[in-house]
Amino acid sequence: MRFFIETIGCQMNQLDARLLEGALRRCGWEAASGPDGADAVLLFTCSVRSKPEEKVFSRLGQLRPLKDRNPALRIGVLGCMAERLGPAVRERAPVVDIVAGPGNFLKVPELLSTGALHEPSVLCGFDEQLRFTRDVRSRRSAVQAFVSVMRGCQKGCSYCVVPGVRGPERSRTLRGILDEVERLADDGVREVTLLGQSIGSWGRDIGEALPALLRRVCAVPGLLRVRFLTSHPADFHPELLRVFGETERLCPHLQMPAQSGSDRILEAMNRGYSSGDYRRLLESIRGAVPDMEITSDFIVGFPGETDADFRETLDLVGWAGFRNVFAFKYVPRPKTKAAQRSDDVPPHEKQNRLRALLDLQKDVGERRNREMIGRVVTVLSEGPSPRDRTRWTGRTPHNHIVTFEGPDRCGSTPQLSIRGATALTLEGTRTHHEP
Ligand code: SAH
Ligand code: SF4
Ligand code: F3S
Repeated sequence: MRFFIETIGCQMNQLDARLLEGALRRCGWEAASGPDGADAVLLFTCSVRSKPEEKVFSRLGQLRPLKDRNPALRIGVLGCMAERLGPAVRERAPVVDIVAGPGNFLKVPELLSTGALHEPSVLCGFDEQLRFTRDVRSRRSAVQAFVSVMRGCQKGCSYCVVPGVRGPERSRTLRGILDEVERLADDGVREVTLLGQSIGSWGRDIGEALPALLRRVCAVPGLLRVRFLTSHPADFHPELLRVFGETERLCPHLQMPAQSGSDRILEAMNRGYSSGDYRRLLESIRGAVPDMEITSDFIVGFPGETDADFRETLDLVGWAGFRNVFAFKYVPRPKTKAAQRSDDVPPHEKQNRLRALLDLQKDVGERRNREMIGRVVTVLSEGPSPRDRTRWTGRTPHNHIVTFEGPDRCGSTPQLSIRGATALTLEGTRTHHEP
């Protein structure tokens, strides 16, 4: 039997897709090269904005003829949108056989086996047994892996569906995380990225805290690099800065979304910090770790956002020197607090603000990229570049993507001298010394 998985959404979804893939393989399933040759097509979906949900419905429309030709084909809608919509997925797309949210997708192999699925299944809610699985196949390349350290989120940002679709925060135990990281390292993984929607709150429910976890994970033999995502600015543990100083394995990169530069908007978003708090945090981080790269998310056109509010966001972006920014036009999401307010920034104005923010960041990003020219960096080699197969790509500890002349060996750590820069990637050539 063959499966085909398609995934959209964030790293948590990517990880969940890998976990299901591992579970299916253990049950004897093999990967199909496309939906055509598959016995089951499984879509991992995202609900954070409305566009990714519409994309799934249009994909389901494209899959219908396949199912008409092969009625035994099973189609699953998994992940966040499954949780948010439940049975409504099938009402709109009857072609779907299985709907299973983030707390239930690991039941899919069982549902698919032994023809157990006589009628469509809709599985939502959070079954404590399924919180985590240990699975060495959850890696994203031969030498890198994502490791989930917690599930859910309860920050309650007023615009966000994630707490609703991923459930409350539940931390995985220190032992469970270390066991998995040790197994990955034994298996050749050199870089792990620990994942949590607001990873700064890891351990709060089990009497632990992130700095201690990072110290232990960084000490796992065989690992070269450790990263973690996403840092909520209101949860930043000052002790973390000390950990960065203690070990080179902890990569100097933080994904720390600001969302807005206006205090009024931050408050309406229920983010729990002011623009000044964010700036002070950034200063203290850079005071302790001067080369720290920081990336951020922003929402433009939140209800009530005026020109003046938006200018404060631009001020923050101009000041902060972010490495990279992900910016989104606000969309009201069902059952969120912000959706009760009028979505009063007109679409063209949201578009203008998005453009202005991205243009500003592009200037900042390009300037920062050019500053890299002439420097020598060490990358962890990931594999051939998808754009130009004669070149390879790797990442620096700061999470800069560098291409260099191939071939190379996945997992090696060549030293590269930076010769050129484009908007998102750097170009390097090997220096003579390899560390
Ligand atoms: N846990 C992470 C991000 C989760 S969602 C954090 O706290 O930052 C990823 C990004 O989607 C968010 O950072 C936010 O910028 C954006 N986003 C979430 N809900 C949105 C909405 N209703 N409209 C537009 N963008 C949204
Ligand atoms: Fe959503 Fe806020 Fe949780 Fe991030 S921290 S997932 S934005 S509720
Ligand atoms: Fe991630 Fe989208 Fe779910 S951002 S947590 S896949 S709603």
